[in-house]
Amino acid sequence: MKVLVVGSGGRDHAIAWKFSKSPRVERVYVAHGNAGIAATAPCVNLRTIEEMADFAQKERIDLTFVGPEKPLSAGITDLFESRGLAIIGPDSKASRLESSKCDAKTMMRELGIPVPEFENFSDSDKARDYIRSVGYPVVVKADGLAAGKGSLVCDTASQAEEAVRQIMEERVFGDAGRRVDIEKRLYGRELSFFCFTDGTSIVPMVAAQDYKRARENDEGKNTGGMGSYSPHPWLDDSLVQTIMTRVAQPLIAGVREKYGIVYRGVLYLGLMLVESQQEVIPYVLEINIRLGDPEAQVILPRLRTDLVDVCEAILAGRLGSLKPEWDPDYRLCLIATSGMTKGKKGWYKGYPDRYKIGLPIDGVDRIDPECLVFHSGTEMDSSGRLVTTGGRVLCIVSSGGTLGRAREKALAEMEKVSFEGIYYRKDIGLE
Ligand code: GLY
Repeated sequence: MKVLVVGSGGRDHAIAWKFSKSPRVERVYVAHGNAGIAATAPCVNLRTIEEMADFAQKERIDLTFVGPEKPLSAGITDLFESRGLAIIGPDSKASRLESSKCDAKTMMRELGIPVPEFENFSDSDKARDYIRSVGYPVVVKADGLAAGKGSLVCDTASQAEEAVRQIMEERVFGDAGRRVDIEKRLYGRELSFFCFTDGTSIVPMVAAQDYKRARENDEGKNTGGMGSYSPHPWLDDSLVQTIMTRVAQPLIAGVREKYGIVYRGVLYLGLMLVESQQEVIPYVLEINIRLGDPEAQVILPRLRTDLVDVCEAILAGRLGSLKPEWDPDYRLCLIATSGMTKGKKGWYKGYPDRYKIGLPIDGVDRIDPECLVFHSGTEMDSSGRLVTTGGRVLCIVSSGGTLGRAREKALAEMEKVSFEGIYYRKDIGLE
């Protein structure tokens, strides 16, 4: 079988790696990939969804799996399905659940799914009036896609008003800021929960802990993710049951029955668990329509079941009869980012602020082959040297019978990697 993976980050590298392990897969292509992914699977320089569909037809690709949200929102699934090509990922209608925070929250409220109190605004003055009237701390979210950076958590009304100004008037996230979702800020425990679904049946995956803040002790700016680990210490069977019955099942059945959305693929729920009168209420903070990055890097290595079998069950609508198997050992992902460096015009602060690219990377070949290395922002320069091209550069995924052992291993292996300004959090998995 031939598989095409769409994406070019660490998550997409992990997806390509997982397919490459399948005895049923003879070839994996990645569009458009990066230098590290190219060592796992051939990368093809396809930039538009039409080019990808043409390639899939020409090369007789049997299965396409989409990593990031952008091609899904752009309608890659609708396009492939219109040409009779098998593809895993929600269609453009279902993608609204991620590409519009406002529409997603409204649908969930109508379906009786727990969400924080919220209102949506397309007028910044009305948004400010609302912030002054509610009298509690809020989170201001740009409605559209903003690479994971569009949620501004505010302590005070004046911070929230400033967030509205930046998002709606300064348009720091572009057109994603035409509308805002203003939510009551909740306090509890955050958890990322992932499922496979065929539109009717839902199979939960194992959970992962993600670290979004740039600096240790969860300080600094929000990033796309600085590390992760799995299994998650809070996710026991009873919590899985609560999330399934209060969120995942009513969501998938509700969007199908009320809005005609048949949601197929991966469902990623960003939850805040709030304890109330001896029960835990899983409030939905956000829905993503894909695997998380860097959660996929620790979840997929634990999946013992062939990913092709999971995909076929989704496509055939028989996910209900599939019971994926998981390796109980820990996986821990440590991300090396482009940190502080001195440029011609002064200091660059480093990811998620400004950073240098094109810096030679050494030591990747010395990493213990028992660990996995997934690349996010790398390329080969004209002299064939591996260099940085992004804020998140690459990650090491270690395994261990305990979280502590996995953590020590990843840290020891990361010491072997060097590039100017390399920065990684040393507290990933330090619970
Ligand atoms: N790890 C967060 C995300 O993938 O959106």
